[in-house]
Amino acid sequence: MSAASNRVAVLHGVNFDVLERRDPELYGGLSLAELEYRIGGWSGELGLEPIFFQSNSEAEFCGYLHRVAETADGAIVNAGAWTHYSRAIGDALAVDPVPTVEVHLSDVENREEWRKVSVFEGLVEAKITGRGVEGYRDALALLAERLGV
Ligand code: DQA
Repeated sequence: MSAASNRVAVLHGVNFDVLERRDPELYGGLSLAELEYRIGGWSGELGLEPIFFQSNSEAEFCGYLHRVAETADGAIVNAGAWTHYSRAIGDALAVDPVPTVEVHLSDVENREEWRKVSVFEGLVEAKITGRGVEGYRDALALLAERLGV
């Protein structure tokens, strides 16, 4: 752990590389770069240092989670559709966990039934859904408090 304990890994899963091409009604129409810019701004205000990661490869995503405690003190995870069925990713988060908040841009509790299931249940400090980009600000604030920043 660094002296400051303020490093937050922000992980995005499958299809977030094309976020700006996905349904704007659900996901806001912004690009991943724009989303990360917003997260970067809020992180600075809260004294947090974000580290960004995105992959469409489940294997890469699991590999990153295996090592997340080496580079970060906390994490924000939006694994996209993997959230709802990838037990492998849930297990990977459990290997060497850091305090983690699960975020979804859309309101997964009020969409299709299968989106209500999360492989991160019981592994995360909080699950924030349906708040759009603002959900990330909430997650950062939670982590800042949790990490004592
Ligand atoms: C999502 C919700 C998931 O159900 C979906 O598969 C995504 C995005 C969200 O941020 O709202 O890819 O995680």
